[in-house]
Amino acid sequence: MAARFHNPVDVRFGLGVSASLAELVGDRSCVVLTFAEAGYLGLLNTTVESLGGCLLGVLDQVPANPDVQDLETIWQAFIHLDQPPQVVVALGGGSVIDTAKAICTASSAQSFHQMMNHLTQGLAVEERLTCELVAVPTTAGTGSEVTPWATIWDKAAQKKYSLQGPALWPVRALVDPRLSQGCPASVTLSSGLDSLSHALEALWNRHHNPVSDAMAVEAAKTILRVLPVLMTDLGNLGLRTEMARAALLAGLAFSNTKTALAHAISYDLTLRLGLSHGLACSFCLPAVLERALGLEASRDNCLAAIFGDPLEQAATRLRAFLNQLGVETSFVAYGYDSAAEAALLDQAIMSPRGQNFLGPLGSLARSGR
Ligand SMILES: [Fe+2]
Repeated sequence: MAARFHNPVDVRFGLGVSASLAELVGDRSCVVLTFAEAGYLGLLNTTVESLGGCLLGVLDQVPANPDVQDLETIWQAFIHLDQPPQVVVALGGGSVIDTAKAICTASSAQSFHQMMNHLTQGLAVEERLTCELVAVPTTAGTGSEVTPWATIWDKAAQKKYSLQGPALWPVRALVDPRLSQGCPASVTLSSGLDSLSHALEALWNRHHNPVSDAMAVEAAKTILRVLPVLMTDLGNLGLRTEMARAALLAGLAFSNTKTALAHAISYDLTLRLGLSHGLACSFCLPAVLERALGLEASRDNCLAAIFGDPLEQAATRLRAFLNQLGVETSFVAYGYDSAAEAALLDQAIMSPRGQNFLGPLGSLARSGR
């Protein structure tokens, strides 16, 4: 059967590649969207200086896990710039890049209202961006720089929204591992586990294809090998480069498959417990892996390439990897007794992301730890 892989993002990868930002922006007007700590981490000065007179402003109010209220606040600042920017530079992790995607589709009150409708109703955003989006990730994990969707939360309503559609592909991604070098331990861990989750979720996925498989296997192998070492040597640029490459590959893989059951499970933990996305979508990976084994020979082959033989030990190995990094892998550790765990799994498997999971619905009846 013919396979198709499509990703339109112009990706530049390597140490120092972010220095080409000013050249890519040229003489076009631009705004930098970022997070409050970017200045403190030393990520902003060089960027601001390089953009010179083209820079209309820096909007640095993007919080972690932005919600619809945050989106409106940032959008208000965006439309009150001296003029509409031609380029939006998203400098940050997934929260910043996702917010930038939403903002870029809304240049007027009417279009903001339309975007919010698309967000809350899950409709695809077809219109092209009103300005060019250049994603410059400062963490190794999100993959948002190469995907056409964005997550925005509604904390008051306890809901997670997903904005998606062809208008949300960034035009360019500058993946410079040096930008993640000052990333604190907690963010390094959470981001790395998020990218591991992206890689594995691209494999046990109904939309898998040979191209995404190759990227996902390489990404997962790298993360399993590198992340524990990096956590003891956060300033190591070589390890940062390996993780940035793995996160990019995982992002490219799931840009064509979307995520699956582990992500579907995660949203309740983020909304209910405020758990970081990376921890929420990785603690259950061993349990999901147990349910993925034996479903399809080609999936087992990919998982064997990552976890080795015997494949029956794969979930145990993954559980040990996560425990070694301080991640609890049982549902009860997060306050779910067996009835609550079953209810969460039922809800997750019926959600759009859960439906991407390769296993039959009944597979969830198999016990996991
Ligand atoms: Fe994720």
